[in-house]
Amino acid sequence: KVLEEHKLIDVHEKTADLYHHILMNTQIGEKALIYLKNRGLTEEVIKTFKIGFAPVDRSLLYKVLQKENFSEDTLKKSGLLFQLDNSNWLDRFYQRIMFPITNFQGKIIGFSGRILEDESFDSSDQPKYLNSPETELFNKRFILFNFHQARSEIRKKNEVILFEGFMDVISAYMSGVKNGVASMGTSLTVDQINALEKVSEEVLICYDGDNAGIEATSRAVDLISAQSMMNIQIVSLPDRQDPDDYRMKYGNDALNELIRTSRDTVFQFKKDYLKRDKNIQLETDKLLYIDELLTELVKVSSMVEVDSALTQLSTEFAISKETLQSELRSKKQNYK
Ligand code: UTP
Ligand code: MN
Ligand code: MN
Ligand code: MN
Ligand code: MN
Repeated sequence: KVLEEHKLIDVHEKTADLYHHILMNTQIGEKALIYLKNRGLTEEVIKTFKIGFAPVDRSLLYKVLQKENFSEDTLKKSGLLFQLDNSNWLDRFYQRIMFPITNFQGKIIGFSGRILEDESFDSSDQPKYLNSPETELFNKRFILFNFHQARSEIRKKNEVILFEGFMDVISAYMSGVKNGVASMGTSLTVDQINALEKVSEEVLICYDGDNAGIEATSRAVDLISAQSMMNIQIVSLPDRQDPDDYRMKYGNDALNELIRTSRDTVFQFKKDYLKRDKNIQLETDKLLYIDELLTELVKVSSMVEVDSALTQLSTEFAISKETLQSELRSKKQNYK
């Protein structure tokens, strides 16, 4: 079993070396390298993340791995290749920028590939990102992109930053923020939260500023609060941008500063979030909104934060603080 795992990791390490070499040193990787440089990546960062390119020829990986004496069983189990009707082998990834995914020990156990758009290739029916399939080693619900590399910085800062995309983690890294991780295109899982809680008391959620990102932030906040003792803060990106868009538009320093200084508490985030589908001018919506906010406040443990929030609500909606307080008390009793 251990030997088998070792072989699987070996396949992945060799594959990552190949894709990285193609990107950095060959003609077929040239367009991909230009694409990445246009997105602001330096060669140093490309090396740090061992980014690669899987070319359009779907027989390449098999040709290379065949010479390495891996068993057909190992090749199949890797998920990087499959066999058509027991004869020809096909590479899973092609025409994609390849991001190696490591386990918590830093060993490569899977990939995510981003399609490289090109005139000579119709990618309209392809997903933008394609992951390795679930394998013995690659279990998406346990994996966090960049966790191994970020761990010492996470410990040092006692804070981990959650991003939606790999490019956001890499963008933050280039702007000097090195404690970022991302889940694998799925929503955050309890297993990932457990892993994070072992190394950090603080978590900063920095998802995309579009609708999907805001909804995902709300779900992440609820899950983390329910499953861990971590303290949560949120950075909201403006104008539907993601952190990488923001860095491309305003630069490294601006992204760094946004992440350091534009933080909301969970309550501040929920105030904006719960307002989105309501017309507060309407009495019914307003009452519902206040009720939902008080429900959120039940979960807040800091008395100072609760008091400050009640003061705000009292002023904003011209309701006495005593009334809000007694409503909150009765909610708390029902909650227990
Ligand atoms: P986004 O659509 O926000 O992509 O998806 P992105 O990270 O900004 O990508 P770029 O900047 O266009 O390159 C966020 C994350 O969701 C997952 C990926 O992990 C991606 O990083 N995803 C997205 C998928 O798994 N499959 C997809 O088809 C799209
Ligand atoms: Mn997104
Ligand atoms: Mn995005
Ligand atoms: Mn995008
Ligand atoms: Mn993006």
